[in-house]
Amino acid sequence: MSTELFTEEGSAQVVAASFAAAPPRLREVMTSLVGHLHAFVKDVGLTSAEWEAAIAFLTATGQRCDDVRQEFILLSDVLGVSMLVETINHPAVGGATESTVTGPFHVVTSPPRGLGDTIAADVRGEPCLVTGRVTGAGGEPVPGAGIDVWQASPDGFYDVQQPGIQPEGNLRGLFTADASGRFHFITVVPGYYPIPDDGPVGELLRTSGRHPYRPAHVHLEVSAAGYRTVTTHVFVAGSPYLDSDAVFGVKESLVRDFAVTDDPALAARCGLANPFRRVEVEIVLVPERPASATGIPPSGGRTG
Ligand code: BEZ
Ligand code: FE
Repeated sequence: MSTELFTEEGSAQVVAASFAAAPPRLREVMTSLVGHLHAFVKDVGLTSAEWEAAIAFLTATGQRCDDVRQEFILLSDVLGVSMLVETINHPAVGGATESTVTGPFHVVTSPPRGLGDTIAADVRGEPCLVTGRVTGAGGEPVPGAGIDVWQASPDGFYDVQQPGIQPEGNLRGLFTADASGRFHFITVVPGYYPIPDDGPVGELLRTSGRHPYRPAHVHLEVSAAGYRTVTTHVFVAGSPYLDSDAVFGVKESLVRDFAVTDDPALAARCGLANPFRRVEVEIVLVPERPASATGIPPSGGRTG
């Protein structure tokens, strides 16, 4: 018999050897996965009852998934895996804006809007002017860049969580930067909110004494021909949970002051009551390059 039989000591090597005929990348990934999994089981001395509980947890996680709910991504989020994959695959090279998780609420297409439009159908909350600019790493403007934005309400709910309460497309918008890469729109300051915590992942957080909250933020996905798309957030400075985001999405460079602004002339031009809140967002894109040139895979694909 040429194949080695299973032993406790040699378990990982025996199982890894069974992937010898797999395509090279699959073999590499499975060999490493099996090695780490077996080391983990030995490290914690996993009991049969714990193994059964883990299987039940993963089963419940799968059963909580449907067309709009992805409990496995949520699990990846709260374990920090989504952020790790995002950070490894979108390194902030060349002064590029840092990326962070996409999250599960980018499930509908944002309505196209004109520069200066409001994305808030209901202006309860604090009206806010968002102004921004999209540039390349050398400071050159990126005219025509697409800026897809989505955010929670001041109460901490996305439109898709409140059908019949918020209109479809509320607090979402797809903008096109002008000839100098600039964009602006009106919104309300978002609130902090809990990630969906009524499933197995929420149960895991509660059992572990962890809270489910994310600090207040606006999501942006910025794209332009010839540049890497960046999926990022602007976090509201001073928001609760900036230092304990349930999904580890906060990066220092993404926190912005949503300053109270006393400017009657600007308020009148924007149709806002004075004073109002204002945030400036600069987005720096880096050129899209094939994986072979950078060692970084091309952008695209949801990771969190
Ligand atoms: C979000 O920011 O929308 C989000 C990200 C990860 C998990 C849940 C929500
Ligand atoms: Fe969010």
